[in-house]
Amino acid sequence: MEHNTLLIIKPNATAKNKVGAIIKMVEDHGFIIERIKMFRFDEKLAKEFYTEHIGKPFFGRLMEFMLSGTVVGVVLHRDSAVPLLRELIGNTIIGKAKAGTIRYLFADTSTRNAVHASDSIARAKVEIELIFPELKQENFS
Ligand code: CMP
Repeated sequence: MEHNTLLIIKPNATAKNKVGAIIKMVEDHGFIIERIKMFRFDEKLAKEFYTEHIGKPFFGRLMEFMLSGTVVGVVLHRDSAVPLLRELIGNTIIGKAKAGTIRYLFADTSTRNAVHASDSIARAKVEIELIFPELKQENFS
């Protein structure tokens, strides 16, 4: 089934000029870019985006990191987009990401892990609408 998912290229990857390299990997794996923008999270948006992690031990580090610089939000489309993008980005925990995945190549730590990708179709819809509110009207899933 074809659907959309959300990729965020995080501040450590943008600071190291790895946006192009990451986008190339995604396009080479058959994902179509539907929307793309550079922006900075503010605290309100970051808390809303990561609401499920509030209270976890790494939450403070995660907020500080996500607010530290420019990010890129990308809406990606293809069949099985959510599981295939999760596979391509690799495990969150540094050292567990398989060779060849985006995080294997570009993560610095488990927090500064270069990218985020939605973990379900339902979350993809929520996250896409948070980052691209103009898509709310379009039933963009
Ligand atoms: P992300 O996929 O954006 O979702 C939550 C983020 O919290 C994660 O990537 C990491 O940046 C950060 N994080 C740091 N430590 C952990 C951890 N132990 N488990 C999950 N996420 C973590």
